[in-house]
Order: sequence, then C-alpha cells, then structure tokens
Amino acid sequence: MSKDKVQIFDTTLRDGEQVPGCKLDTEQKLVIAERLELLGVDVIEAGFPISSPGDFKSVSEIAKLIKKDITICGLTRAVKKDIEVAADALKHAKYPRIHTGIGTSPSHIKYKFNSNKDAIIEKAVAAVKYAKTFVEDVEFFAEDAGRTDNDFLAQICEELIKVGVTVLNIPDTTGYCLPEEYGAKIKYLKENVKGIEKATLSCHCHNDLGLATANSIAGAMNGARQIECTINGIGERAGNTSLEEVVMVMRQHPSLGLDTGINSRLLNSTSKMVSEKMGMNVQPNKAIVGANAFAHSSGIHQDGVIKNRETYEIIDPADVGVDESSIILTARSGRAALAYRAKIVGYELTKVQLDTVYKEFLKYADTRKEVVDKDIHEIVAATDVAIEK
Ligand code: KIV
Ligand code: ZN
Repeated sequence: MSKDKVQIFDTTLRDGEQVPGCKLDTEQKLVIAERLELLGVDVIEAGFPISSPGDFKSVSEIAKLIKKDITICGLTRAVKKDIEVAADALKHAKYPRIHTGIGTSPSHIKYKFNSNKDAIIEKAVAAVKYAKTFVEDVEFFAEDAGRTDNDFLAQICEELIKVGVTVLNIPDTTGYCLPEEYGAKIKYLKENVKGIEKATLSCHCHNDLGLATANSIAGAMNGARQIECTINGIGERAGNTSLEEVVMVMRQHPSLGLDTGINSRLLNSTSKMVSEKMGMNVQPNKAIVGANAFAHSSGIHQDGVIKNRETYEIIDPADVGVDESSIILTARSGRAALAYRAKIVGYELTKVQLDTVYKEFLKYADTRKEVVDKDIHEIVAATDVAIEK
C-alpha cells in the first residue's frame, strides 16, 4: 500500500532551544543541523533571526551549510522588520522559508494585542504578503490555534491562501487540546477553507498535558501533512511533539497509510547527541530513546523476552539504532533472567546449580538497585556449586 508522506519540520534549534539552559552556540547548531540533514528531516527551523545577533548568524550559517533538498526556515512575528531580517538571514538557503504569524485566540487578541479579529486578519495578510516579496515559501502560524474558534481560524486561513501562503501552521501552543478535538480542527479546516488544497496544513503541538504526540498524529490522520517536532520532545515548558515518537507511531502502524522520510536507525544516536550538546538529560522512561525503552526488569517480562522478544517489545531495537534489548537484573528478576545473564558472563548453570545460585542472588539483589555482571561472579563464588566453565 502506498503511503502519504508527512513532512517532518524539525524545530529543535528554535522552539527546542527555548528551554532554559539549553542555549547553543553557532558551532553546536551547525553540527546538529548536519545531523538533522542525515536523519532525513524535510524542514529545519534554524532560529528566530531578529531575536539576537547570535541567532541571526546561526540561521545564516545553516542556510549556507545545508545544500540538500531541505528547507531552511526562520521564525518572525507579523512585523515588517522581523521579516526583513529573516529574509536576510535566509538569503543563501537553497530552499528558504519565512515562518511568520500572530496570536489568534481570544486571550491573545485581547491581552497580547489589545486588538480585534478584523485587525488580526489584516496584520496576518500584510505579513504573508510582505514575506512573499522575499521568498516563495511562506508559512503562517496562528498562535494558540488550539484555543481559537474554528470559524475564525477558517476565515483567517482562507484570506491567507488568497495571498499565497504555502503552509498553514495550526499550533496547540498551550498543549490544551484533546486528540479528538485537535483532529476535528484540522478536519474542519480541510472541509471548510476554500482553496485549502493550495496549502499544507501543519501540526505544532505542545506537551503540557502529555498529548503532543497524540494530537499531532490525530492532525495527520485528518489531513495535516507536516508535523513540527523536536528531538527528545524538548521545547517550551513541557516541550514539543517528540520527533522520534511521531516517526515511530507512523512506522509501527502501517494501517494509518502515513510515513516520513526519516532514517529511524539514527534516532537513538541523534537523541544522545542533542541531549549531550544541550546538557539536557533524556528521562529514562522516554518512549523510543529513553535508557529504559528496551530494558526489561520484571521476572515475568524477562522470561517472555528471553523466549521471544515480541512478547514485550513492539519495536525491534535495531530499527531505532539500539544494539539490543537489555535484561536488567533486580530482586524482581526470575531464574530465566539470571541464567540468561550468567551464561553471557560465562556460567552455564544446570537446573540444580541455578536453584542454589538464585537463592544467593535474591539475598544480594535485595540490597541493591541492580545486579551487574561483575556482581554475578561474586554471587557464584559465594555459593559452593561447582561450576564448569
Ligand atoms: O507554539 C507556538 O505557537 C509556536 C509558534 C511560534 C509557531 O512556537
Ligand atoms: Zn511552539
């Protein structure tokens, strides 16, 4: 079955870098951009050029460096000066994109802009028109679209299509939507915006309720063909949609009929690289790339995995660049796991020997968080079983 391609718009270097303490210098950003190119992303949002001279330089250097068929994007507010500076930073890009936008929800219109709906549409249209004088590819973000009513969103999208917007980004800026609601929003736009086939709908979901991945997938299932995400899901507050998660959801569920161009075997090493450069640890239980994502520690699970990996693993670790699943020995482990690890470190135990060693193992394991390979030698030595190596 042929699948629809969902473009991966990586914003690790823009939204991801907004995490306190994760500031990167230009050199580090260039290394990450090259890795994103290798990974196979379609768009790199390289920064917010007007925000600082450092960000301008990074966007400009990335635009010069990346020569594959990857779009390099710079963020702006719906402000002329921002757009001019972004256009300048992107001038060497093979495929430049200006990403401009404005808040569209009632609270953004009232509290941020002290404005009204008509004036917001006017500003949005003016920004896209102005950006189009510099580049062909202009993406518009309707900030806080998650809390914007669908009629107004449709109205603004329709006006922007008339002036040539290429991508309509529908951000759930505050991570508020439920998957059903976010999916319905995308469906509503697909069905009610005149000319919508001329633009790509994009999901940009934050993770304040832990729903960013589910919402992005719901968006794609309802017609969005770009997902904005970051490596390890880093980003403002609780973060953005995690790139590795959306890629693997589509890969593991072929019935969705959706796929990306990402080389999933590079996911684990890319996660490690970004974590190290940003000085931000990945939580051990993080889906796909966490240290425990392929580690089994309870006896029942270990027994199953040793018999056949598929009993407790839905992804082949090699598909995401992890060498193999690991069996972690703890006081919850059973004989099967102990025999399995003991064999790896050099002890082929008979059933009787295993019973004896297992009793000793449990005493030992109760005093530790984990029993590692060197401990197994001590445990075996503490028993009087004769081991033939
Ligand atoms: O979350 C958001 O709305 C954003 C926009 C600037 C795209 O990051
Ligand atoms: Zn965002």
